[in-house]
Amino acid sequence: MERAVARIDLGAVRANCERLRAELGEARLCAVVKADGYGHGAVAVAGAAVAGGASALAVATAGEAATIAAADLGADLLTLGSLTEAEVDVALAVGSDLSVWTEGFRVLVAARARAAGRPARVHLKHDSGMGRLGTFDGADVVALARAVAADPDLELAGVWTHFATADEPDDDEGYFFEQLDRFEPVAAAIRAEHPGVTVHAANSAAVFRSARSHFDMARCGVAIYGLDPFQDDPRSRGLGPVLSLRSYVAAVKRFPAGQSAGYGRRWRAGEDTWVGVVPLGYGDGVRRALTNDCDVLVGGRRHPLVGTVSMDNLTIDLGPETDVEPGAEAVLIGRQGEEEIRAEELAARLATINYEITCGITSRVPRAAEAAA
Ligand SMILES: Cc1ncc(COP(=O)(O)O)c(C=O)c1O
Repeated sequence: MERAVARIDLGAVRANCERLRAELGEARLCAVVKADGYGHGAVAVAGAAVAGGASALAVATAGEAATIAAADLGADLLTLGSLTEAEVDVALAVGSDLSVWTEGFRVLVAARARAAGRPARVHLKHDSGMGRLGTFDGADVVALARAVAADPDLELAGVWTHFATADEPDDDEGYFFEQLDRFEPVAAAIRAEHPGVTVHAANSAAVFRSARSHFDMARCGVAIYGLDPFQDDPRSRGLGPVLSLRSYVAAVKRFPAGQSAGYGRRWRAGEDTWVGVVPLGYGDGVRRALTNDCDVLVGGRRHPLVGTVSMDNLTIDLGPETDVEPGAEAVLIGRQGEEEIRAEELAARLATINYEITCGITSRVPRAAEAAA
C-alpha cells in the first residue's frame, strides 16, 4: 500500500507509438517528452517510445534536453523552445538540435557552436499561423535556410511549423488547412534547395486529422501517453491510457446526517452515511476545483468526492452501508475492476484539457514505471 503513486504503463507507451507509426507510414515519429513526459516521467517514457519506434525525441528546454541526453537512448534530440545564451550552451553540449527563427539567434547559435567546436544542427521554425514563436514570413524562412546552409558552424537539419487548431475538427474556417497551405510552399522551397532537410509539422491531432500534415516526421506528445488529442475516448483511436493515479482509504468514519466534511463545510451528509478519507489533495495535483465534483473508485465502484479537496486529503461518500475498510485502494485516474476514470473526464469537469491533468500531478507523487512487455 502506498500513500500515492502514479503508475506508468510503459507497454502502453510502446503500443501507442506503434499505433502512431502505423498511421504515419513512411514518416518518422518524434516523441514529445517535455514537462517530464507530460507528468509521466520523461526518461522512462522516452525509452519506451524509442522501443515503440520513435526515432527522435523533443523537449522544450535545455534542462530537459540534458536529462534526456544523459539517458543515452540513441534517438535524435530536438529542443523546441526559445533558449537563453546559457541554455544554448547546455543544449549544444548535450548534442541537441535547436530551433531557430531569427537571423540574430542564428548568429548567436553559430558563435556558440564555434566555441563548442562542433557545428550546431538547427531546425527553422515557420510561424504559419499559431501566432507564437517562429517567423511569419515564409520568404524570411527560406532566406534563413540559405544563411544556415552557408555557415560552417551550422547544419540545416529541419524546417517546421506548429498547428493552432489541429485538435478542433469542427473548425469550419479550416484554419488547420490554411496553415498547411502556408507551410507547404515554404517547406517545398527549402527542400528543393537543401535536399535531406527534415520537414515536420504534425502534432498528435494532426496525425489523425490529415496525412497531408505528416511530411517527413510528426511530433507526437499527448497520443503517446494514451490521452486523446480530441478529448474523447482514446481507445476509439486505438490508443491506451498510460497513467493511473492511486492512493488508499486511510480512514472510514460514520457521519451522522448533517455532519460536514472539510474546510468551509461545503458538503453535509443528507442522511447517516460512511465517509472515506483518502490522503491525496491539491498538494498532489488533485485540483481543489474538484470539490463535490468528481468520483473516486474504491472496491470497483464509483463514489462521489464530497467536501472540499484540501492540500493533503479528500473525502468520499461511501453510502449508508459499506463494506469498504481502511486500506482499500482508491483510484483517482485509471481503471479498477470494470470501472474507469479517464483524465479526459477530469479535464471536462475542470473545463481544461487532459494535458493539464497529467502535467498537474505534482512531484510529491512518485511515478512507478512498469516495464514494457
Ligand atoms: C511545438 C510542439 N510540437 C508538438 C507538440 C506535441 O503536441 P501533442 O501533445 O498535441 O501531440 C507540442 C506540444 O505542445 C509542441 O509544443
